Amino acid sequence: TRVALLFGGRSGEHSISAATAAGVLNAIDRSKYEVVPIGITRGGQWVLTSSDAAQFELAGGHLPEVTEDSGRALDTLSDAGPIDVVFPVLHGPFGEDGTIQGLLEMAGVRYVGCGVLASAVGMDKHYMKIALAAAGLPVGPYVVVHPRDWERRQAEIVAEASKLDFPVFVKPSRAGSSLGVTRVDDIAHLVGAVDLARFHDPKVLIEQGIEGREIECAVLGGRGGAPARASVPGEVVVDHDEADFYDFEAKYLSASQARTDAPADLPESITATIQEYAVRAFEAIGGEGLSRVDSFVTPEGDVIINEINTMPGFTPISMYPKMWEASGLAYPDLIDQLIQLAVE
Ligand code: DAL
Ligand code: MG
Repeated sequence: TRVALLFGGRSGEHSISAATAAGVLNAIDRSKYEVVPIGITRGGQWVLTSSDAAQFELAGGHLPEVTEDSGRALDTLSDAGPIDVVFPVLHGPFGEDGTIQGLLEMAGVRYVGCGVLASAVGMDKHYMKIALAAAGLPVGPYVVVHPRDWERRQAEIVAEASKLDFPVFVKPSRAGSSLGVTRVDDIAHLVGAVDLARFHDPKVLIEQGIEGREIECAVLGGRGGAPARASVPGEVVVDHDEADFYDFEAKYLSASQARTDAPADLPESITATIQEYAVRAFEAIGGEGLSRVDSFVTPEGDVIINEINTMPGFTPISMYPKMWEASGLAYPDLIDQLIQLAVE
């Protein structure tokens, strides 16, 4: 089976996607799958690269990059030869948001992971919250800043946001890896934070910060019509002396700011709730293949869903493969199942 691994891409998470590709290149069973690695430059040029994972690894604070020198330029997917299935390990806009999924649907090519709608809803934190809330799942309070309103109704938006408990987190609605996210402790800094987020996406969310442990759970689509499965939950432990929150640097650039544990040390009933919510969140957006659902567990033991990621990272710090390992599913077998879900 020839698997095209699509990575890099036009989003701010370009380098993280390249690191995810390195993770998959290292783990995929090469006796079963022939990998066709296709990097996409930040400018959108598709390049057939070598399948040596080392060039895209995230190590020692180095952010990997796909450039036009990374390999041979491709004009079309078919220039890479026959492809049985595409594994689009792209994060963020132009990859995790339904756009590449739509292109592949149009071309009649099979691909791993969520379809157009689930990808688009999962990418947009505003619609994601609407879909989760409509399914009866708990999400935190927030204020949405629509592009058309920021100039016209700024004072009203600030007044509305001031009713949230601080700190708040200001986020681009469609981005990932905490790019453009600011923790705001004082309302005086809100406007600057919204302006910064707007650099990444004209639509912005102001979310009430939720005090609690950060717990993630991996979901894997069911084979042959079986329901999706949840992994054991994992925990992100941020060193708050070193980082304000689990931001880009704590995620990928600094080994000391955060660590991840799987399985998370939680009471059984909370583990069960996290797993139930993760599968329900996946179903609420119409998920297929995979997703990672990130939640908070408050000191009172309530679970509140923060977000769903339809193409979670597979980098060295990333929880998705780690939580499956901790659930008894080895990394190469996980990748095998993801591909089999796409081709069956
Ligand atoms: N957006 C990053 C890659 C994640 O969710 O893991
Ligand atoms: Mg995300």
